[in-house]
Amino acid sequence: MSENALLQVQDLRKLFLVDKKPFSRQATYLKAVDGVSFSMPQEEVLGLVGESGSGKSTVAYTVIGMYKPTSGKILFQGVDISTGASGRPLSIKKDLQIVFQDPGSSLNPRRSIRQIIERPLVVHRMIRGGNTRDAVAELLEMVELPPDYMQKYPPYVGGGERQLVSIARAMASKPKFLILDEPTSALDVSVQGKIINTLIRLRREMKLSYLFITHDLSLMRNVADRVAIMYLGKICEIAGTVEFFQQPLHPYTQMLLSSIPVISDQEEGLKPKHIAPRGEIPSPVNLPSGCSFHTRCPYVEERCRQEDPAMKELRPGHFVRCHLAC
Ligand SMILES: Nc1ncnc2c1ncn2[C@@H]1O[C@H](COP(=O)(O)OP(=O)(O)OP(=O)(O)O)[C@@H](O)[C@H]1O
Ligand code: SF4
Ligand SMILES: [Mg+2]
Repeated sequence: MSENALLQVQDLRKLFLVDKKPFSRQATYLKAVDGVSFSMPQEEVLGLVGESGSGKSTVAYTVIGMYKPTSGKILFQGVDISTGASGRPLSIKKDLQIVFQDPGSSLNPRRSIRQIIERPLVVHRMIRGGNTRDAVAELLEMVELPPDYMQKYPPYVGGGERQLVSIARAMASKPKFLILDEPTSALDVSVQGKIINTLIRLRREMKLSYLFITHDLSLMRNVADRVAIMYLGKICEIAGTVEFFQQPLHPYTQMLLSSIPVISDQEEGLKPKHIAPRGEIPSPVNLPSGCSFHTRCPYVEERCRQEDPAMKELRPGHFVRCHLAC
C-alpha cells in the first residue's frame, strides 16, 4: 500500500446476516463486500461504478463508519478507522464526510437549512464565539445558494437545491475527503449538471478527494482520475480514466462500456466490440463458484467456474481480476 495515501482500504469484507434458524448454528450471510482493496492519494477522484446491488454503498457506509467491517482494514491518513464511527477521533470525522443519494431523506425536514448547516460548524468547532449566521451564508454562497435560503426548510426547496444544502453541510467542517454516493441519481436530469459542476469546482478550489459512487459510467469520463468497477462485492478492474476508457480489459467492463452512449464517431471507434448484456446479476447470498462473473461472461472457460481469479496488475496502475485478460 502507498505510504502517502489519504485513504487505504485493504481486503474489506462486509457480510450481512440474512437468515438464522432458531436453536441452530446454521446462518445465511449475504456477502455485500467481498475483499475490496484500493488506495487513494490526496486530491484524487476515484469513480466507483457498478450495477445495483454490487456493494458500492456498503463500501461507502463502511468507510464513513456507519457499518463496522466484518474483516479488513481501513486507514485514513495512516490512522486505523476500521472500528466504525464510535471509535473514531473527531478530527477524522471532520476530514471525512459523505453526501448521500437522496437529499430528501438525509436532511431533517423539521430543521431549517440554517440549523442543518450550523450543526457541523458547532460540533467541529469551526466557529469561535456566538453567531454562526455569516459562516452559514458563506457555505450557502459556496454552493451558489442565496443567504435567505437559511430560513427555509428542506421540504420547501427543490431536489437539486436540497442536494446543494447537503453539499454545503458536508463542506462545513472543511473536509479533505468526500464520499459521494450517487449524488445526482435521485434528481431531475435538469439539475444534475449543476450539482456535478458544483462538485467539480469545489474539488478544484478546496483541493478535495472524492470517492465518487455512481452507476453512470459515462459521467466518470469527465469527473474521475481513476475508475474502479464493482461486481458482486469485488472490484474487477481499476485503472486511470483515459486508459480505462481506451483499453478496458475485463469482460464485464467491456460489456458495460459497449452499451454506453458516445458523442462522436471517434469515440464510437474506441469502444470495445459490442458484448450484449447476458443474464441477471446473481444473488450475493448464493455467489457463483470461481469467477463470480462466469454466469454472464461470453469468454467463460472451465477454469473460470472453479478458480476465483486474483487481481493482477497487467499494465502500470491497471489492475484486472480475470484469468484470460492480458
Ligand atoms: N443492511 C443490510 N442488510 C442486509 N443486506 C444488505 C444491507 N445493506 C445492503 N444489503 C445488500 O447488500 C448488497 C449490496 O448493497 P449495496 O446497497 O451496497 O449496493 P449498491 O451497489 O450501492 O446498489 P445501488 O446501486 O442499488 O445503490 C445488496 O444485495 C443489498 O441488498
Ligand atoms: S475469469 Fe473467466 S469468467 Fe471471469 S471474467 Fe475472466 S474470462 Fe470471464
Ligand atoms: Mg447504493
